[in-house]
Amino acid sequence: MEKIIEIKNLFFSYEEALILEDISIDIMKNDFIVFIGPNGGGKTTLLRLLLGFIKPDKGSIAIFSKNPVQARIKMGYVPQYSEFDKEFPITVIDVVLGGLLKTTSFFPRFKKEEKEKAEEIMKKLEILPFGKKRFGELSGGQKQRVLIARALVSSPEILILDEPTASVDPTVEKEVYEILKDLNKDLTVILVSHDIGFVSSYVSRVGCLNKRLVVHHSEEISKISMTGFYERSVHILQHTCHL
Ligand SMILES: Nc1ncnc2c1ncn2[C@@H]1O[C@H](COP(=O)(O)OP(=O)(O)OP(=O)(O)O)[C@@H](O)[C@H]1O
Ligand SMILES: [Mg+2]
Repeated sequence: MEKIIEIKNLFFSYEEALILEDISIDIMKNDFIVFIGPNGGGKTTLLRLLLGFIKPDKGSIAIFSKNPVQARIKMGYVPQYSEFDKEFPITVIDVVLGGLLKTTSFFPRFKKEEKEKAEEIMKKLEILPFGKKRFGELSGGQKQRVLIARALVSSPEILILDEPTASVDPTVEKEVYEILKDLNKDLTVILVSHDIGFVSSYVSRVGCLNKRLVVHHSEEISKISMTGFYERSVHILQHTCHL
């Protein structure tokens, strides 16, 4: 399998506090990896490092043998909290097309092909009928699909999602994971989640992150889950990873 991301001996601190300590991981093409861990464990920080928004203090990140900033064009990102104000009168189609913007422009113009691509993705995610609705009017699950569509519209090779199902019910959560499973046929998926019991049936690997990182294959996790001891990620961290 082709290695597309290589993180080697990475350390990161915000000011004094050490947030990530000696992180190393290889991510392969078509991997579906989930990072779990307690609040403040460094999950969002690791994603931001991958995207090149912040830089490691020590160690290296190579994505397609490039640095994260150069490789950002190949990544689609669904951030942890939606930055879209509920009252802001932006339509669903404009949220999706916004994923194509490299710079902020008041009067963006999109090509016909770009609009067609957006429609194709919206159709796949079953949100095409809401295209003209205001984003703020949608349900949590519909919003989540719109944000995934936004991340996909630039045709990324890696899709990075930070707790995409944090505010939706279990039915919608399952739907979102089914969508990701389907997208994973063509894409590498990197996900942050709190619900390990649930995601272990979808993902290929699980990274337990609490300053340090311990990676498990999903078979290992499903075995652990089946014993019934480890319903929450925190328990896996405590008992198996000693983090
Ligand atoms: N911009 C920042 N400046 C200073 N400290 C920060 C900043 N962003 C995050 N931190 C700190 O870094 C640590 C890791 O934060 P991070 O957001 O990566 O955690 P997380 O694992 O994503 O948590 P959660 O599950 O709550 O989303 C926390 O202690 C947080 O307070
Ligand atoms: Mg986070």
